[in-house]
Amino acid sequence: MGRMHYGYWKKQKGVEVVALCDKNTTQFTEGVQGGNVAGADNSTDYGSAVIYDDFTKMLAEANLDAISLTLPTTLHVALTVQALKAGVSVLCEKPMALDAKSCRTMIAAAAKAPNGAKLMIAHCLRFWPCYTYLKKLIDSKKYGKVLAASFNRFSVMPGWGKGPNWFTDESKSGGVALDLHIHDTDMVNFLFGMPKSVTSSANYNSDGVMTYISTLYDVGGAVVSSDGCWAMTQTFGFEASYMVTFENAIVVMDVNREDALSVFPAKGKKFAPRIKGGDGYEYEIKWFADKLKGLDVESVTTPEQSCDSVRIVDAEKRSAKSGRKVVL
Ligand SMILES: NC(=O)c1ccc[n+]([C@@H]2O[C@H](COP(=O)([O-])OP(=O)(O)OC[C@H]3O[C@@H](n4cnc5c(N)ncnc54)[C@H](O)[C@@H]3O)[C@@H](O)[C@H]2O)c1
Repeated sequence: MGRMHYGYWKKQKGVEVVALCDKNTTQFTEGVQGGNVAGADNSTDYGSAVIYDDFTKMLAEANLDAISLTLPTTLHVALTVQALKAGVSVLCEKPMALDAKSCRTMIAAAAKAPNGAKLMIAHCLRFWPCYTYLKKLIDSKKYGKVLAASFNRFSVMPGWGKGPNWFTDESKSGGVALDLHIHDTDMVNFLFGMPKSVTSSANYNSDGVMTYISTLYDVGGAVVSSDGCWAMTQTFGFEASYMVTFENAIVVMDVNREDALSVFPAKGKKFAPRIKGGDGYEYEIKWFADKLKGLDVESVTTPEQSCDSVRIVDAEKRSAKSGRKVVL
């Protein structure tokens, strides 16, 4: 994910990438090491950027305005707070942190940060064209009210990192619910607001690791659900998809279909809407860069909303464990 952010920061006007940090410096010589998303920068020529293997040293020496924090989730709270205290803005990868208490610590650090340093959590789907298209349809009521919406994210078990697989250790990643499925939880939060309650069920493998979670969100109207899975076969690979039933149209997105996005209107023919190219990483980084430059940006995401998404996922996990609805 660091390589993904790096590639897009480099493309921002008026921005210079002056430093890069990874405790394992072979990451800088070996190029892309795998991962579950395409488009990461594969270069090993970093121009004049200084390479560090120590975060504290980089903060002290590199005279930074902002960082992208794309490190394992356990590190998000401490390093975000450290950077904000130094007056350095932080774009921190999702999930914001392992629990809501840590999220609140990060929000409090941003409120007190010197130099007007800002915090953003990189919930890329809020900027991803096929999801921003859906947000506009829902807000404009172009096809009437939403009757039902389902969101899916299915992946093989992650294992691309070097060293021990921190993703499968729930105490480090939060497991499939917090690491993967939170993308869709945050999308439900973005599109329909904070749910009143969640009802979830889950599967666990023989090591007790959650591999599948399915949730029904009470958003006070539409039937809204989401499934997330880390148990797909290598031959299946990855799927991100949604199906939204409006009063007057069905809208379907599936990254594996020939037309990733299709509208099936009540009147007229099925069509594939034209949407802008690019991915959510590109637009989230541009949004944050523009915000740091003091430009007017549309309201898309706040750290408080990212904290709420962590709270919703926590409720989903508790519901799956107890077999009961959890009220938020
Ligand atoms: N938005 C998305 O679509 C998306 C996709 C994948 C991962 N992520 C998130 O990005 C974050 C990172 O995930 P990843 O897949 O890139 O993980 P990764 O394990 O592939 O990479 C993490 C890197 O952090 C380095 N590191 C660990 N501790 C360090 C420290 N103390 N100082 C400096 N470097 C250190 C490791 O050497 C490694 O290179 C996670 O929070 C994950 O949930 C988001």
